[in-house]
Amino acid sequence: MSVTVRVPAKVNVQLAVGAPRPDGFHDLANVFLAVGLYDEVTVTPADELRITCSGPDAAKVPLDATNLAARAAIALAERHGIAPDVHIHIAKDIPVAGGMAGGSADGAAALLACDTLWSTGAGREELLAICAELGSDVPFSLVGGAALGVGRGEQLTAIDVGGTFHWVFAVADGGLSTPAVYGEFDRLTAGTDVPDPAASAALLDALRTGDATALAGALSNELQPAALSLRPSLADTLAAGTEAGALAALVSGSGPTTAFLVADAESARKVAEALITSGTCRNARAAVSPAPGATVL
Ligand code: C5P
Repeated sequence: MSVTVRVPAKVNVQLAVGAPRPDGFHDLANVFLAVGLYDEVTVTPADELRITCSGPDAAKVPLDATNLAARAAIALAERHGIAPDVHIHIAKDIPVAGGMAGGSADGAAALLACDTLWSTGAGREELLAICAELGSDVPFSLVGGAALGVGRGEQLTAIDVGGTFHWVFAVADGGLSTPAVYGEFDRLTAGTDVPDPAASAALLDALRTGDATALAGALSNELQPAALSLRPSLADTLAAGTEAGALAALVSGSGPTTAFLVADAESARKVAEALITSGTCRNARAAVSPAPGATVL
């Protein structure tokens, strides 16, 4: 018997970042929006824990115990006195190391898949607690939709979204390390007064009313200067998408994927095509939001 879980990518429509905390993390006001680019994670009983991955970027996915999918299986198994003997297969479609929570998505998906396979009886609260131990973005991958994350980003409050938003995502060559981007944020803000992060009322309103133009005016990512400092060429990608008619452009999370909010599916097609021909990115993908969280197929 196998269990397959489908899990979405995310874009941060607002990422407000505070000063570094004593534990090295940063307090955030992190408005997550799940987008319809998906990985599928299948777990099957096996002699021992092993991971395989398929998809165009499969070679970039670590297949050892550092993979969040493996860590999720082990964490759940330990709590319930089960041996984590499963074959985890990741069918990867979310950009790798791209700021779209692809690794976190696989962690949440493996957790839900193993929980279903083993019938542990763990409740939603327990699964969310394990997700928070695995990483700051993992709880959101489980719940999907849209949510405000505070603390490290793991304490979630659901947000209503009153419409469908259209996006194009430009996939960059190579990844960016999340700790390196936060480190660059600290370097760039050293000696300045970093305000406490707070969610933008205008942004939450735009999501609630499904107003793409209002959302375009309210998008913000305080990690963007740090990502651009480490990867200056991303400015060319942002400019190419804006010139092609995107309503707004920003770096997705810690990057290097860039996100373009567009008016409709037709505009998404045009902007994606323009980004690909601009030569400023490796690929461009259209997707809509919000998308549901991790779901057993
Ligand atoms: O929680 P996660 O393992 O995804 O975080 C990866 C890294 O990103 C952390 O080690 C830290 O350097 C940085 N981070 C941070 N503040 C957050 C979330 C992540 O500094 N709220």
